Amino acid sequence: MIDPRSTTPHLERYYSRRASEYETVYDKPERQAELAWLRERVPRIFRNRIVLEVACGTGYWTQHLAREAKRVYACDINESVLEIAREKPIPAGKATFFKADAVSLEGVPGTCNAAFAGFWWSHVKKSEIALFVKNLSLRLEPGARVAILDNTFAHGSSTPISRTDAEGNTYQMRKLASGEQFEVLKNFPSALELTEAVRPVAREAHLESLTYYWLLVFDLK
Ligand SMILES: C[S@@+](CC[C@H](N)C(=O)[O-])C[C@H]1O[C@@H](n2cnc3c(N)ncnc32)[C@H](O)[C@@H]1O
Repeated sequence: MIDPRSTTPHLERYYSRRASEYETVYDKPERQAELAWLRERVPRIFRNRIVLEVACGTGYWTQHLAREAKRVYACDINESVLEIAREKPIPAGKATFFKADAVSLEGVPGTCNAAFAGFWWSHVKKSEIALFVKNLSLRLEPGARVAILDNTFAHGSSTPISRTDAEGNTYQMRKLASGEQFEVLKNFPSALELTEAVRPVAREAHLESLTYYWLLVFDLK
């Protein structure tokens, strides 16, 4: 049996150390127009929905989802990012932040009719994507709406790929302000890979491909 946590302890530590500097990734000048579009587009997908947000990080997207959603249950593995998320200006009772693993999803509420994952898919090994998709679909109500947001590889803007492993996963070398270096799994899936991955659970999937981002939206069967 595949251990759902098998690829992530290293990633957990990297994001734990990066918590206070994480949101600078949203300051890249060349990405501002697409981000502005996404800050409008993504919340509208979840109007009046009860949303499970996986790997929510510092709550950057949670604060925007909370404008349109009925409620957001947002989880992450790292307390250091959840502490920052809890300080976001979100109306009382609109969002709950809690610790949970994004692949096993143990302990997440079973009452959500939507899910959002921002910049998480790219950190899941290709061999574990099917498990993530299956577990997510099992935690949600039938017909639930799902949106997955992540990065397109953009030369000159993305960190270069430093290594590709035997199953085709790609890696980047990332450096923190402290000088600490981490090798981080970061995949840039093709449109075909994405639609094939969700086919077992999705009624139909729509992929919106931008220069710096992609957004996959589908309803569960
Ligand atoms: C690229 S960040 C995305 C954060 C946020 N979704 C955003 O879009 O700004 C990836 C997040 O995954 C979290 N993470 C790493 N391993 C995890 C795991 N096994 N389960 C849940 N979250 C995990 C990290 O703590 C980090 O906050």
